[in-house]
Amino acid sequence: MAPLFLARRFLYVPPIHHPKGTRTMGYKVVVAGATGNVGREMLNILAERQFPVDEIAALASRRSLGTECSFGDKTLTTQDLDTFDFTGWDIALFAIGSEATEKYAPKAAKAGCVVIDNSSLYRYDPDVPLVVPEVNPEAVDGYAKKNIIANPNCSTAQMVVALKPLHDRARIKRVVVSTYQSVSGSGKDAMDELWDQTKGMYVPGQEKEPDVYPKQIAFNVIPHIDKFMEDGSTKEEWKMVAETKKIVDPKIKVTATCVRVPVFVGHSEAINIEFEDFLDEDEARDILREAPGILVVDKREDGGYVTPVECVGDYATFISRIRQDSTIENGINLWCVSDNLRKGAALNAVQIAETLGNRVLQKG
Ligand SMILES: NC(=O)c1ccc[n+]([C@@H]2O[C@H](COP(=O)([O-])OP(=O)(O)OC[C@H]3O[C@@H](n4cnc5c(N)ncnc54)[C@H](OP(=O)(O)O)[C@@H]3O)[C@@H](O)[C@H]2O)c1
Repeated sequence: MAPLFLARRFLYVPPIHHPKGTRTMGYKVVVAGATGNVGREMLNILAERQFPVDEIAALASRRSLGTECSFGDKTLTTQDLDTFDFTGWDIALFAIGSEATEKYAPKAAKAGCVVIDNSSLYRYDPDVPLVVPEVNPEAVDGYAKKNIIANPNCSTAQMVVALKPLHDRARIKRVVVSTYQSVSGSGKDAMDELWDQTKGMYVPGQEKEPDVYPKQIAFNVIPHIDKFMEDGSTKEEWKMVAETKKIVDPKIKVTATCVRVPVFVGHSEAINIEFEDFLDEDEARDILREAPGILVVDKREDGGYVTPVECVGDYATFISRIRQDSTIENGINLWCVSDNLRKGAALNAVQIAETLGNRVLQKG
């Protein structure tokens, strides 16, 4: 397994760094949803990457007023989003779900604060860029129409990082993807449900009925994420289709089956790709080795691949099991694993903020 520092070298967006004494003015940054899974990681990643923060505010619902959150070696006290005044703040990283986002994002944007939103609310809005910085960094420039930039769904983010360099070489026609998504993708209550249900299997009297999920998640898999659509697919599957088209290329056809698995953190995907041109598996491996944000771990031996527990806390999207699909003319299969709270959410959002800083705002 690659050490952490090695994986981090593979990031596309250079952090905003300043030689000591040369920094003029940094950013005033808000994290909304700071007590949640994604918000907590946002604070960690802003600190780890030394994002040039002059002032930072941690916000959540009134329920969490006064709760303490860590930001590097500092402790922040959570404020109430409902009464927060965004005037004079530069960037707000939102991780609070669609309903609350609908209420608060326009308020922040109107006050002149650029919102980088993790919910699905704005992803398909033509006036809102949907950005994965390794793939379409230039799309950030369109932020000003609404003062909002959308972060993609966790399963889409890691997949498009892998698809883009292969698409540039051999033009992707069609993708067939099956996901194995961890429970942290449904928030902190879902993590508790997996933990409590697992414990309840062994401790009489502590059995836990399904609540967050429609069926038992401990020692089980559930082929259903988000609501059902009219055509029988689920919204999560639809998101992978629509978002891949918006971020990479509208011509790419995608069909997805999204499955929840009893893993705490780390999404995995089995991806089958059909290309217009022939692409040899060795060349695909070389292309992915050079690609931003990716770390290839692909040895055809016991353990020569990455599993979700190994990707937790890391920045990279890991690719393993790269092989020709001999059932079609131009096909490749691969296995893709990433920390859904990082590349799938918080890291991507911070990378968007860095891209916005480097390309447009140029403070710090
Ligand atoms: N988890 C992932 O892998 C992932 C990936 C991509 C996108 N996302 C998206 O990111 C968002 C957050 O997900 P999460 O996993 O971090 O959820 P979570 O662990 O359940 O946390 C939710 C956060 O939102 C806050 N919140 C909820 N309703 C609020 C309201 N009305 N006003 C103010 N704050 C409110 C909560 O504050 P309290 O603690 O005060 O309730 C908490 O801080 C969701 O939109 C999700 O779809 C998640």
